[in-house]
Order: sequence, then C-alpha cells, then structure tokens
Amino acid sequence: MQSVKVDYNKEFSETNGGFVNSMVRMLENGHIMSKLNPSKDDSILEIGCNSGQFTKKLLKHCNKVIGIDINEEAINTSDLNNLFCMNAEELDFKNESFSKIVSMHTIEHIPNIKKAILEMGRVVKKGGRIVLSYPFEPVRGITCLRTACVVYKNPMMCRQLHLHKLNRGKMEEIIKDTQLMIASHKIIFNPWPVYVTVLEKAS
Ligand SMILES: C[S@@+](CC[C@H](N)C(=O)[O-])C[C@H]1O[C@@H](n2cnc3c(N)ncnc32)[C@H](O)[C@@H]1O
Repeated sequence: MQSVKVDYNKEFSETNGGFVNSMVRMLENGHIMSKLNPSKDDSILEIGCNSGQFTKKLLKHCNKVIGIDINEEAINTSDLNNLFCMNAEELDFKNESFSKIVSMHTIEHIPNIKKAILEMGRVVKKGGRIVLSYPFEPVRGITCLRTACVVYKNPMMCRQLHLHKLNRGKMEEIIKDTQLMIASHKIIFNPWPVYVTVLEKAS
C-alpha cells in the first residue's frame, strides 16, 4: 500500500461532530462501549480521538483515559487535558501501559496500518483488549465520499482518506505471528455497515 500524505485539517474534524452525526453514531458508540466494558480500574487509550467526544464518555466510567490523534487542530479545540497529538504508528508510551485500547474509524486512514496495530499490541497489557471499528466497504473509499467533498472539495479524493479496504481476512493477515488474536468480529449497522473487531493479547 502506497503511503499518502493526508491533510487532517479542521474541515476533516468538523465532519465528525454535529447533531446528525451524533445521532447516527449513538448505536455504534453503545456497541463499542459494551465491547470495551470500561471499569474504574481500567487504563484506556483511545487512538484517533479527534476532539475527544468519545474520550469524554469514557471518563465517566474510568479514571485513567488518554486520547491521541495526529490532528493537532482537533486536539487543540478540546477542553480536555488528557489528549495528545501523536501518530498511532509511533506511540510514545511504555510497553503494557494500558488495559484496553479503542479506536473508531481510524485504522483505515493510517498508511502503515500493520505498524499501528503492532504498536497497539505493544502498549496493551497481557490479557488486554483492543476494540476497533472500521467501515465495511465493497469499494475502498466509497463510505467517505462526503468527507472527501468537505476536505478536498472533490469526492474522487475519497481514496486519499481511506487507505485500506479492511475485513476479517485482512485483520488476520496483519496480526499473524503476533501475540494478538481475534476475540470477536461482527458487522453492526450505524445505519451503514461497520465492522467491529475485538483483539486480545495473550496472557
Ligand atoms: C474519521 S476520524 C474518526 C474520529 C473519531 N474516532 C470518531 O470515531 O468520530 C479519523 C481520525 O483518525 C485520526 N488519525 C488519522 N491517522 C492517524 C494516525 N496515524 N495517528 C493518530 N490519529 C490518526 C484523524 O486525525 C481523525 O481524527
């Protein structure tokens, strides 16, 4: 997969807020929350937190939550002090720092997705869980035509945003020969089909 420079600008973050988007995402957020099952004792890392809307929800359940995103503008719009600008491909955390990791609609944007997932596997504790959501796309980029219009004013640029067409087979290929395994994998509807994959690190 060719690495593509993407401008994660303000417009891109704006596509993730708003009333309609919040309503549409309620069902998915509920499902992700049930898979994550956060408790007070957990330490949770959210990858691709944008301006921290889901991070805020996590803070109601858990004392130690950190969100990271490569988009500095999005981080700066938040009033939270536990968000950091960081690339998922190079996490600045010690090994086994978190009991759980969550990442929604982000891995499909990351050029070196394998490196990012290996990094998640490194910073999650043994027996820990990684909950990922990403779009079901028969054709890569088809679900981000609107975002491409907002960011690039051109729907044809959708493939600059979604760099990977993902499914269970691709995830299995990525985690082959690692300590991670697929604990569950299903499609939910938000109302568009979205994959939710839960990875677990061997204890
Ligand atoms: C479609 S948005 C999803 C935001 C949020 N998780 C949600 O579900 O609404 C993708 C997010 O991933 C972030 N992102 C893309 N590549 C990244 C990387 N290499 N490291 C960290 N964050 C990244 C973008 O800046 C953006 O905030």
